[in-house]
Amino acid sequence: MAIPIRLTVNGRAVEAQVEPNTLLVQFLRDQLRLTGTHVGCDTAQCGACTVHLDGRAVKSCNLLALQADGARVTTIEGLAPEGQLHPMQEAFRNCHGLQCGFCTPGMVMSATALVQARPGADAAAIREQLDGNLCRCTGYHNIVRAVQEGQAAMLGAATASAE
Ligand code: FES
Ligand code: FES
Repeated sequence: MAIPIRLTVNGRAVEAQVEPNTLLVQFLRDQLRLTGTHVGCDTAQCGACTVHLDGRAVKSCNLLALQADGARVTTIEGLAPEGQLHPMQEAFRNCHGLQCGFCTPGMVMSATALVQARPGADAAAIREQLDGNLCRCTGYHNIVRAVQEGQAAMLGAATASAE
């Protein structure tokens, strides 16, 4: 039996009916067509499905859609205004922090949550945060560089807007 939920997704109020066993990632991809959130394993290991739930990075294959009732969800599509890249996305591009790009939405969502929660994180903290995000292409060095550059851009932008 479908159950009604209400939540905010990428700043937009959403009302929907979900089955009790619908995963949050299925809801985002199949019902809302937000396919930037990827499914790499379905067993909470790869991090490709990472989104923000009330500002925290979570693996959306590991949550039920029902658990997001009343919450604020941000996916990769909601990170920057349409047609623009978020500074963290720019940094991944600049630093060659991606190859096939499959892991990248999850990496970017995880990295932006880190900068918001722990601004100024060093390389060790970045590696620790990304421990739950697997990449089979890059070897991680450029990803860590990208997160450092993206962090600097995010914090620089925050400082500039406060001045
Ligand atoms: S698909 Fe969610 S962690 Fe892999
Ligand atoms: S860039 Fe291919 S899995 Fe990370």
